Parts: sequence; C-alpha cells; structure tokens
Amino acid sequence: MSELILGIESSCDETSVAIVKDGQTILSNIVASQIKSHKRFGGVVPEVASRHHVEQITLCIDEALQEAQIDKKDLTAVAVTYGPGLVGALLIGVQAAKAFAWANQLPLIPVNHIAGHIYAACFEEELQFPLLALVVSGGHTELVYMKEDASYEIIGETRDDAAGEAYDKVGRVLNLSYPSGKEIDQLAHLGKDHYHFPRAMLQEDNFDFSFSGLKSAFINLVHNAQQRQETLSQEDLAASFQASVVEVLVKKTIHAAKAYPVKQLVLAGGVAANQGLRETMKQKVAEQLPHSTLIIPSLRLCGDNAAMIAAAGQTEFNKHNLADLSLNACPGLSF
Ligand code: KG4
Ligand code: ZN
Repeated sequence: MSELILGIESSCDETSVAIVKDGQTILSNIVASQIKSHKRFGGVVPEVASRHHVEQITLCIDEALQEAQIDKKDLTAVAVTYGPGLVGALLIGVQAAKAFAWANQLPLIPVNHIAGHIYAACFEEELQFPLLALVVSGGHTELVYMKEDASYEIIGETRDDAAGEAYDKVGRVLNLSYPSGKEIDQLAHLGKDHYHFPRAMLQEDNFDFSFSGLKSAFINLVHNAQQRQETLSQEDLAASFQASVVEVLVKKTIHAAKAYPVKQLVLAGGVAANQGLRETMKQKVAEQLPHSTLIIPSLRLCGDNAAMIAAAGQTEFNKHNLADLSLNACPGLSF
C-alpha cells in the first residue's frame, strides 16, 4: 500500500506544507512566501517571520490536504524540519507538526533542513549511493557525502558567508531588492568577467569555501568608484562576481568528487537555481566525471519547500528514525 507523508517546513521565510506519496510523487506542495514583508528590511526579520508562520501554518495544512484530495486518516506520518534555521520560525512548524501528529495518531519524523534540500533531487530521478551533494543556499554552503540513504557526512563547508548570503549582500551594494540572487544571475548573463575578483581557497587542499573576501573586494571596488564619481557597469560587476562564485563552487565540487568517487552528484538549495552555476556544473561534470551523473532539482524545488522535507522524511521513516512529542526546534542542528 502507498505511504503518504505530510511534510512541514518553516525554518526561514517560507511556510510550506506538502503531501508526498512513496517518497516520489508530489500530490501537493503549498508554499506561502513572506518575501514581500521582508523586502523593505533588506533581509529576513526573525520576529516578522515567526508571526507570518503562525498566521499561515494551519491554512497551508488545510490547503495541502485539499489539493492532494487526501483525508487526514489516510496519512502515514508527519515529517517536519526541526533545524537548522531561525528558532522562532522552526518552533511554529514543530509545534504544528506535533499537534497534528498527536491529534491524528500519526508517527512524527524529525528532518534536517539540509537533508531536505538534497532529497529535492529524488523527484528528478532515483538517488543512488555513494552520492555527493553541494548544498548552496542563503544560510549554507556545504559539501555532503552520503554513503547510503539517510547517512550524511559534511566534508567541506564555508568558513564565513554562505554563497546565497554573499549574493544578497552584494545585491544590497547594487541597490537591488532582497533576495537578489536571481537578479544578479540575470544581470550576469548580460555582462563580462571584466573585474576578475579573487577565487578564494582554490589552491588549498581541502573542500572548504570562503566568500567574505570576494564580498569585500566587490564592495571596495564599488565604493572606490563612487568616490571617484565613476560609474561601473552593473552587468560586468554581476558577471565578475558570479564568475568567481561559480568557478570556486564547481572546482571544489569536482575536486571532492575525485577524492570521494560517487555514483551521483546533486546540486541543491536556493542558489542551485542559478543558471550560470547549473550550466557550468553540467558541462564540467560531463567533461571531468564521466562515471557520475549530476542531478539538479527543478527550479521550483531548489528554494525552501515542504515536498523535499516529506521526501527526506520518507527515508528517515524507512529507517524508523522517529521522534516523540518532546521534539524541539534545534536552530544550530548539524548532521
Ligand atoms: O534555499 P533557500 O530558499 O533558503 C535558505 O535555506 O537559505 O535559498 C535562498 C537563497 C537566497 O540567498 C537567494 O538570493 C538565493 O538563494 N538565490 C539565488 C538564485 N535564486 C535564489 N542565488 C543565485 N542565483 C539565483 N538564481
Ligand atoms: Zn533552505
């Protein structure tokens, strides 16, 4: 018989509820975005995020059930993101999941948000192990090695800013609205790598990243030009910034995949929506890793959503990794 997992995600600024059948088929995936409310502050305001989650969570649960045409009594389990993320935001999802699971006598599955991003790839094709995932989002830049299903080892990570965070900070200097990753990506396609910013940590023999030096180089260049009343091309600035980020992400991932031979590579997280990164990663993997296949989730599944949480939840459920009603939000959760 089919298993139906209800997934709940509220770690940052999207309230999302989804129903996924057998860890493979999305029956519904409701995403209530709060971006409009955070735009005027230039970033996510945690207290504002929590309030929105409170308003949206039960509406999203009802809508997800309705869209999937599923009765609560037919559900198999409830999966919820319990970290990492903003504590107040996480708490709303965790409390809602516990209440829903208790009221409907359903098992509760705790899910790590980063695992969720990786499992977004399983909607494209079945995951095969060992697998290496590059997770790039507003809060994370991590290389995760998975020997088997639901097993995670971080082999590299950012020492400072996450890739998405660097996009958003640079966007602010260009007076773009938050979050600016998508707009910088579009501008980058119209410009050239004229400024050739530094490529951090490429020479070092590890799989870690650093983006704060790039961010500072970008800000200094723009401020110095402003002082000289010189105008720089926004397109060339975006293209130069993106060329540096993409080169480092792709080269480090390929380097890691040579040290940890894998069947599959996964590119995941909000920044995986970046066209430059998607294209370059596809090209370099095809050229340099002929024995591995690359999976990139569809654009709508790169950003935060609950379908990916339900999919990761299904694998935890298969391994009987369940939580009881003492489950708490864990903002600094690692693997
Ligand atoms: O995964 P996500 O939705 O939320 C977190 O878990 O952080 O990622 C959001 C991040 C933001 O920093 C946003 O600027 C970035 O993903 N982003 C992009 C693109 N689309 C979204 N960055 C670069 N290029 C894009 N096309
Ligand atoms: Zn995320």
